[in-house]
Amino acid sequence: MSERVRELYLQVLKSARRQFSRGLDQGGDVAAETARVLDLFPDLDHPPPFTVPEPKPSHPLLTPLSAFLKQHPDLVPGLAELAPFLPWTYNYAPRADDPNLHERMGWFEFIGPDAPLHSLELGFGIGFSTGNVTYRPHIHPAAEIYCILAGHGDYHVDGEVRRLGPGDFSYHAPFAIHAAIRGDEPGMNIYSWTGDVVTLSKYVDEGI
Ligand SMILES: [Fe+2]
Repeated sequence: MSERVRELYLQVLKSARRQFSRGLDQGGDVAAETARVLDLFPDLDHPPPFTVPEPKPSHPLLTPLSAFLKQHPDLVPGLAELAPFLPWTYNYAPRADDPNLHERMGWFEFIGPDAPLHSLELGFGIGFSTGNVTYRPHIHPAAEIYCILAGHGDYHVDGEVRRLGPGDFSYHAPFAIHAAIRGDEPGMNIYSWTGDVVTLSKYVDEGI
């Protein structure tokens, strides 16, 4: 089983890298940051050793994710079969004003400090949210790109708002305040972090 899961990891990562690499055509900060990310990518044809995590069949996002992937089977080939083995990460403390947010929004990190493919220079994964999720304003020292695969939303970056959907990219410079207000459909984004990938993101209203 674990050999099959390793194959799926690499299949999903190759698909995500291919889709993410369209950022090179976007020009500006997105293209420059995409090039940086691709430079830091491990060689997926000759990957370093990595450990497949234990399956998490009871993760609260697994059911909505599986339903979403049934409707979008070609979005990321292999992802539906890999779903029980995803390295889910959600680092925020619960919010009093949105207490079950972690059951509606999450991400799985394939490359990063705590990910199956270890890196202290690159974070790379896929985020998923159910409908009607607001990802409130937050900051982190890493530079970030979202490559939107599914769902539409209003993406706020340092006071500017853009309506984005599948095929669009969003670049967040280190410490840029950014937020996403998504509509009633599920959303899926590939994301990358470079620079300080160890310091966690935090809400800008934390402690207020
Ligand atoms: Fe971010």
